Amino acid sequence: KIQPVILAGGVGSRLWPLSRELYPKQLLQLTDNTSLLQTTLLRVSQLPDILPPVVVVGEEHRFITRKQIDELDGYNEYTILLEPMGRNTAPAICGAVHFCNGMEEDIVFLVLPADHVVMNQNIFNDAVERAVLLADEGYVVTFGVKPTSPETGYGYIEGGDGQRIQSFKEKPGIELARKYLEEGSYFWNSGMFAFSEATFASEMEKHGPEMYGCMAEAVERGEVDDRFFRFEKNAMGRCPADSIDYALMEKSDKVAMVVAENLGWSDIGSWQALWDILDKDNSGNVTQGNVLLEDTENCLVRAEEMLIATVGLEDTLVVETADALLVAPLSRSQDVKKIVTRLKKER
Ligand code: GDD
Ligand code: MG
Repeated sequence: KIQPVILAGGVGSRLWPLSRELYPKQLLQLTDNTSLLQTTLLRVSQLPDILPPVVVVGEEHRFITRKQIDELDGYNEYTILLEPMGRNTAPAICGAVHFCNGMEEDIVFLVLPADHVVMNQNIFNDAVERAVLLADEGYVVTFGVKPTSPETGYGYIEGGDGQRIQSFKEKPGIELARKYLEEGSYFWNSGMFAFSEATFASEMEKHGPEMYGCMAEAVERGEVDDRFFRFEKNAMGRCPADSIDYALMEKSDKVAMVVAENLGWSDIGSWQALWDILDKDNSGNVTQGNVLLEDTENCLVRAEEMLIATVGLEDTLVVETADALLVAPLSRSQDVKKIVTRLKKER
């Protein structure tokens, strides 16, 4: 049986003005009118031998998360684990593993970020099937995606013999990322993982015993609150903060990879990435909401409240929400996070 653990605690500041502290990327309706969290849950529900999902979120997002799950047909059984404070992905995963401890025999955990898209469900199912077999053999399994650009926001997995991996490098600098792209034996880490409880426990005992112990306590002393389970604040507060990539993947020698060709995977880390994956009109425009384009090419125009009209515009991003308007060259999408940083400082 597969126990899905959905990580839904991030922020996604590069999708401002849509993403906000109270409305992070995974809760947004970016591609259609289901949110990324909802799409993730639907994707998981199509796997065979699947247990009800465990969703880990920051406690400030509990009601909106529950509402989004309840909107999905047939999702009556699920657990939402609440983090009193963000400690990054590794403690979130440790907490979920401790929480599920002893509930079912022989389970394989499937950890999925709630903030990306997978276009090809069949390839996803097939990759998970292969990952589960490797997890049963005692590996911590990653899902590799063939890189198409020197992205510095991803982890890279160097392939080795068969399914084994040679090395794992989280978020390399641009020089290294270029080299990885040229070499051809490196894959993007899609951020999904599969492992058995026994493997995860022994690897965490080895590489992060303090973290693993703190989260055991946070679960032991945690409390049920309505439909939620909250990790205990003091224990979680003492827990070192780290991502699973640094805390475990870079250190463990039990890591294996399944390569998922043509998965149609995207992390939608920026407006440009969203434009890349969505259907375009004949002039290469992606439009969302009430927009009117005249002589406009290769733009992403999204309206929430107003009618947005453009004339003679190229390669431009226009995103309008109730209280903010963003205009930028699409190619500068990565720099939108600078606006968020300034807003935090200056306003
Ligand atoms: N519950 C919880 N708590 N979830 C979290 C937290 C947290 O403190 N921090 C992040 N998450 C969730 C995010 O919502 C997202 O779904 C997932 O965990 C991954 O976190 P990100 O912050 O988006 O990580 P990243 O994009 O920088 O890097 C990871 O994903 C890349 C692919 O998208 C790494 O695994 C990279 O190696 C990978 O390439
Ligand atoms: Mg991400």
